[in-house]
Amino acid sequence: MIYAGILAGGIGSRMGNVPLPKQFLDLDGKPILVHTVEKFLLTSEFDKIYIATPQKWISHTKDTLRKYHITDDRIEVVQGGSDRNETIMNIISAAEKANGISDEDVIITHDAVRPFLTRRIIKDNIESVLKYGAVDTVITATDTIITSENGDSIQSIPVRSEMYQGQTPQSFNVNLLRNSYNDLSDDDKQIMTDACKILVVADKQVKLVMGELYNIKITTPYDLKVANSIIKGGMLSD
Ligand code: CTP
Repeated sequence: MIYAGILAGGIGSRMGNVPLPKQFLDLDGKPILVHTVEKFLLTSEFDKIYIATPQKWISHTKDTLRKYHITDDRIEVVQGGSDRNETIMNIISAAEKANGISDEDVIITHDAVRPFLTRRIIKDNIESVLKYGAVDTVITATDTIITSENGDSIQSIPVRSEMYQGQTPQSFNVNLLRNSYNDLSDDDKQIMTDACKILVVADKQVKLVMGELYNIKITTPYDLKVANSIIKGGMLSD
């Protein structure tokens, strides 16, 4: 099975004082989440498309999908988790309950708040995850990256040509991800903010797929303005 996991389980605290979690905010006439789901629906390879939202937003999510005439029966809305990785694990549990998990199953996970991913990025993720088992979507770093543990002075300046910025989708063989996650201690689970890092610390290879500059994550009010400008400026491709 090829699963999509759309991660909408956060509350968007960095968006400030808004009435809805950011994934439900309007972007050019429809909720951010709807833009994202529509991209996934264009890809026929998915057997099932899971959308995970906070428990108290599940019925709002279902209403929103109906309102925008999204009735595809591949879609299932499930409860998100206490952090992003737990949300992914909840989706995997829902998939397991429905169909069982086999060694061939893969999941393409994506931030609900990155509405500008393309069919090309999804296709490259699917192709690569079926071959290699773990994939991250990245763009090359254009700014010089500075590291500083104390936030006060520079520790190092890594070679820029070896630096990338992580985006999503991040795609995994389901059993590989779940087993690596279950091997982590509770403390490690707490600090593992990135799903690909679970595999990196387990010494597994994670392949790179090229993203797009405009595949931004909407995190702050500024990002929402940028997202509107990206649409108005006609910078997108599918
Ligand atoms: N996410 C999730 N489950 C969580 C936390 C986050 O599915 N428990 C999702 C968010 O809904 C978002 C994506 O992961 O689509 C990227 O996370 P981020 O931008 O950090 O979203 P929030 O956690 O909502 O934002 P903030 O950190 O500002 O509260």
